[in-house]
Amino acid sequence: MAPLKTLITVALVSAITSIANAQTPNGYVPAVQASLNVAYGSNSVEPAGELIPRPETASPPSITTPIFRSTDPGIIFMIDLDVPRNGNRVTLLHWFVPDVTFSPTGELSIPVPDGDSVAGAPYLQPSPPVGDLPHRYTFLLFAQPENFSIPDDLPINPPTSVQDRIGFDIEAFIEEFGLKAPLAANFIQVQNTSGTATMTFPGPSPSATESEAEPTVSMFDGGASKGRDGMSAGVMAGLLAGIFGVLL
Ligand SMILES: *[C@@H]1O[C@H](CO)[C@@H](O)[C@H](O)[C@H]1NC(C)=O
Ligand SMILES: *[C@@H]1O[C@H](CO)[C@@H](O)[C@H](O)[C@H]1NC(C)=O
Repeated sequence: MAPLKTLITVALVSAITSIANAQTPNGYVPAVQASLNVAYGSNSVEPAGELIPRPETASPPSITTPIFRSTDPGIIFMIDLDVPRNGNRVTLLHWFVPDVTFSPTGELSIPVPDGDSVAGAPYLQPSPPVGDLPHRYTFLLFAQPENFSIPDDLPINPPTSVQDRIGFDIEAFIEEFGLKAPLAANFIQVQNTSGTATMTFPGPSPSATESEAEPTVSMFDGGASKGRDGMSAGVMAGLLAGIFGVLL
């Protein structure tokens, strides 16, 4: 008669394991199980969601992955999910690099976007406002589709100001450029508790409080991003007119 108890134990263990293995925050879409090895200096982010002291994040991390060795390039994103704006939480694109190349050892060679010949959005250090909850910064690695080229007028290539990075919609981007599911992911958290808050903050974003047991539901409205113009609209969707502070 052991089986029932055993089964329950197995189910529990695998549920716990799957939570432990999730490489993207609870409720985040796209959800990713495969781990991207993100290292700030000598500190490898482990487990996913590790709280990293902000001073360690001044320079972009080095990234390796054991699971994707390819002569085809990849694309990397780093996205803050918790930027307070007008009483809500919105995203902010911290880093976007296409044409990432893979060495046989899984080491990634990540170009440095320069706003000119090298595409992408330069790395922006996490700077959550004093007194806010820890912000979640999610790293996603995608295979770059064949013939991938980003329009010069895409607001994130490169961003002309931080404003262009706000409200970045990864699902609209995936749809528009035909990206497949991410190859691997990871995330860090960064918090600033070194002073007194100068503002009141909205509650955590829904994805931060969602129970792991509930199905993740994509909020993306595919109809919004069929064409080029749709894409710009999608990526810009969260752009909130007006007020802008240094709260990312
Ligand atoms: C916290 O934020 C304040 C104000 O922006 C900044 O001066 C300080 O360096 C930050 N501290 C850390 C540890 O990031
Ligand atoms: C990429 O471009 C080449 C040359 O224009 C073309 O032959 C090929 O079919 C394209 N591949 C895809 C996936 O569109």
